[in-house]
Amino acid sequence: MTNDTERQAFALPPTFYIHYDDIDPQHEDLIDIVNDCVARLVDGVLEDFEEPFRIFVEHLTAHFSHEEDLMRDLGYSGLDWHADHHADCLKRVENLIAGMQAQGYVGIRELRVCFHDIIHDVVHADLKFAEFLDGLGLIPRRQ
Ligand SMILES: [Fe+2]
Ligand SMILES: [Fe+2]
Repeated sequence: MTNDTERQAFALPPTFYIHYDDIDPQHEDLIDIVNDCVARLVDGVLEDFEEPFRIFVEHLTAHFSHEEDLMRDLGYSGLDWHADHHADCLKRVENLIAGMQAQGYVGIRELRVCFHDIIHDVVHADLKFAEFLDGLGLIPRRQ
């Protein structure tokens, strides 16, 4: 039986928004893919995870490249560190998918870890970039 906890959608907290270019919609898109998997759990299990996670890795890779391109264009000094952070994140996701393949399904535990990986990069790396953007006056002032 699928319980209510498993049906709760993951959400990006408002304090984790970058407010620059397409970065926030891309973070939301990644979380949406995880949430679509949550919605498809049957008895806590989704066996058809290969396609959503193929798309997830594709979007995650494109998102990381997009951020790194923005950083390069703006001469951000933290680019190399941030790119290493992205590479580590991708490696963790690949290991997570290998674990799903070994067990033959994705469950809420793996989906939580996946959500955590998105948030991990936002909190530890993207928000640092946001401070840099703010310093350049590129983030609109909010009331
Ligand atoms: Fe990001
Ligand atoms: Fe990032």
